[in-house]
Amino acid sequence: MDFDFENRIVASEFSSSEDNDIELSLRPKELSEYIGQEKVKENLSVYIEAARRRGDTLDHVLLYGPPGLGKTTLAGIIANEMGVNFRVTSGPAIEKPGDLAALLTNLNEGDVLFIDEIHRLSRAVEEVLYPAMEDNVLDIIIGKGPSARSIRLDLHKFTLVGATTRAGQLSAPLRDRFGVILRLELYTPEQLSEIVNRSAGILGIDIDPKGALEIASRSRGTPRIANRLLKRARDFAQVMCEGKITKEASALALDRMEIDELGLDSIDRLILRTMIKNYNGGPVGLETIAAAIGEEAVTIEDVYEPYLMQVGFLSRTPRGRQVTPAGYAHLGIPMPGQQRMDV
Ligand code: ADE
Repeated sequence: MDFDFENRIVASEFSSSEDNDIELSLRPKELSEYIGQEKVKENLSVYIEAARRRGDTLDHVLLYGPPGLGKTTLAGIIANEMGVNFRVTSGPAIEKPGDLAALLTNLNEGDVLFIDEIHRLSRAVEEVLYPAMEDNVLDIIIGKGPSARSIRLDLHKFTLVGATTRAGQLSAPLRDRFGVILRLELYTPEQLSEIVNRSAGILGIDIDPKGALEIASRSRGTPRIANRLLKRARDFAQVMCEGKITKEASALALDRMEIDELGLDSIDRLILRTMIKNYNGGPVGLETIAAAIGEEAVTIEDVYEPYLMQVGFLSRTPRGRQVTPAGYAHLGIPMPGQQRMDV
């Protein structure tokens, strides 16, 4: 069977420009509008307030956690709350040291430079970033060979906000240069339900609280997925349920999209089923699972695993990944050596 990984409805990357536009309109602009991530918000509000009172620039901030949890949104809020410009780029987009130099020299005093997927910066680009982060200077080499010389340019003081799916992917020297390191966590269904209600309000979608909670419970802890499922549920509600997103309309939409009661889609189930069928439920190495289902190991690690672990269906052991008894039960497959309990 072929799976369409790119168009997976619970994919947590942006999938179209329409999604992107809508997502922009849904983004909160202030910390007070941002739902969930209470610890992160509490600490961040202190750092922002303190920097503002001192008339200083905010220290560099590293945000890490699974995709789709609102790292870019939070970076935008930081810029907005500090009253400075917000510049957005990503690790893979900065190919050469000169690209980074161009970005840095165009920043005004206090601006926020957001680098998404910062773990994907090349070594050469990272080397340019260190003195910029530490001393607000840019060291550039002019010429080649024996006549090459280095000149130093002063930069405006700026705040770098870096985002990565895992802090462990970052080189130690880069990680050490962030004064603030914040970990975003998966959202609870109640928090996601608040987000769904807020988004429905902005988009003018008619939804009742149970409909919102149904979507929220199947969004694998991720606002980006919740907002996308909200739009698809609206489609089903419009055509089949007189426009209002009720619990029944949500459940119908999600069942049609093959997203089960816990938010697992066909690929999540494929991962678990493959581990059970081919490797006795594990322990099995990540690379082996990746090869067996035809997906990249990093994608499995960043996108699928966090949620499968959160719901308790998968565990990481020193010898590899293992399907838990709850994972077997969810798929209705008896564990080896156990009688099926029929009640
Ligand atoms: N949209 C996406 N993430 C959000 C959040 N954490 N709070 C409010 N709206 C959001």
